[in-house]
Amino acid sequence: MPDKQAPHAVDAEFYRSADSFFAAHHSLALTYDDVTLATLYSEVLPRDTQLDIVLADGLHLNIPILSADMDTVTESRMAIAMALNGGLGLIHYNMPEREQLSEVSRVKNHIHGLIQDPIKVAPDQLIGEVLDMIEKRKFTFSTFPVVDDAGTLVGLLSGHVVKHRYAKRKVAEALTPRAQVHTVREKELGATPIARADKFFTDHPGIHKLLVVDNEDHLRGLFTMSDVERITQERNAQFKPARDSHFRLICGAAVSATRNAFGDLERERILNHVGGLVERGVDVVAVSTAHGHTKGVGDTARMLRDAFPKLPLIAGNVTSAAGVEFLAACGANIIKVGQGPGSICTTRIVAGVGIPQLTALYVTSRAALKKHVTLIADGGIVKSGDIVKALTLAHAVICGGLFAGCPEAPGQIMEIGGKMYKQYRGMGSLAAMKTGSAARYGHTTNTTQKVAPEGIEALKEVSASVDKVLTQLVGGIQSGMGYLGAPNLTQLRQKARFIRVSSAGEREAAPHDVVEVKTEG
Ligand code: XMP
Repeated sequence: MPDKQAPHAVDAEFYRSADSFFAAHHSLALTYDDVTLATLYSEVLPRDTQLDIVLADGLHLNIPILSADMDTVTESRMAIAMALNGGLGLIHYNMPEREQLSEVSRVKNHIHGLIQDPIKVAPDQLIGEVLDMIEKRKFTFSTFPVVDDAGTLVGLLSGHVVKHRYAKRKVAEALTPRAQVHTVREKELGATPIARADKFFTDHPGIHKLLVVDNEDHLRGLFTMSDVERITQERNAQFKPARDSHFRLICGAAVSATRNAFGDLERERILNHVGGLVERGVDVVAVSTAHGHTKGVGDTARMLRDAFPKLPLIAGNVTSAAGVEFLAACGANIIKVGQGPGSICTTRIVAGVGIPQLTALYVTSRAALKKHVTLIADGGIVKSGDIVKALTLAHAVICGGLFAGCPEAPGQIMEIGGKMYKQYRGMGSLAAMKTGSAARYGHTTNTTQKVAPEGIEALKEVSASVDKVLTQLVGGIQSGMGYLGAPNLTQLRQKARFIRVSSAGEREAAPHDVVEVKTEG
């Protein structure tokens, strides 16, 4: 019987391994849509594939997807959603340093299922005002903890009394008094807060809210029975949350290689800030710039490596083997690859520089292999198939545009012509540079009017939640792995066989000559 795994001679001539394929196209820069992957004999069911990846010692993800360190993509809410789904969010640095520290703390202190900053009401508010607030902010719930000016718990305003007939009454007259409100002390939550809350709801039929207080009876959070039930059901999910060794969600933060007025690296400031991030439990720091193969990024990476020997360190961006070797030598464990592929990037147009992403990934992957560092493909991902192709050469991907329309991304929803949008802007756009990201593009903030922006300000249509977007992306990755007979990401990298696609082939790949009908998911 022929060996099912051995390549057939005819296939081998057309469908090439990465080394053979990219060598044959060495003078042509290719990106995702320029190639397709060939199917291989498979005994692997998509649902059985494993997507976990160790990006560096101590940095383990359950899915190989990161959200971009951009001010319209990743703050704590996005980072929490990413980590809960097994990925990682990189908190952007277009905010005061103190705020970035708090954002990281929010992720690290997040207790799944505990609403840490619940909407509260005051005893002297009128029920009518509470009803107005519910209507204005479109809340779907009507029970609220009542706290005084000092944040001390006074009682619970039950949904049963938040009715128009009581509009003229004060909250203080209608609340369930403190003594009758069920609470648990923060320190009693232990290592498994959800299990604690779950037991409470079982032991107290008819009670659907459990408030968390500190020793001084300040309100610290709220569990609802419906959240706890949903989470308990999700326990069996295939991709578990990405957690650190203390069972906290993982979180990354980006920093830039900023300089003072004399052009010197702001060593002390950067070190102090990263020290603060480490104290708050950050799992990885990314020295994130448009051009990583530079003295400034190299010096910053080296300085951080010396000061924090064990801290997983991302640096970038580069698109050359020399760039990877340089950053690896400076102490980076994980290298970001991508110059100009992003959906809001104009670097290639403005500067005439940058490499289409798949060729950049192949070139950098050869150096990464030699230097024992991992690679993240950053930018240009618009569909799950792009991720499968990226993962044949890189260890993980970073997405910006794919998450910018999610409710978890920062920013307000706006309505234009009956459609809902959120802002999405390049960190090299003029607006973003003015609020702090200029250093990423090698400029100082006060000269932004004189420099050419390398990104645009744009809108993304509001999309589904991060959970739903990731379910689609992960499903696509698993399908791709099933077609290649790859049970895990290491095998995907080893087994991938490439062939160039013509423009007619590219058209053939998308739905064509039909009118699409959509079933609501
Ligand atoms: P996607 O395609 O996911 O790309 O929207 C996100 C990535 O784009 C990079 N980025 C920029 N690149 N000018 C650029 O040339 C910019 O203004 C800019 N802003 C972000 C970044 O690597 C991000 O992860």
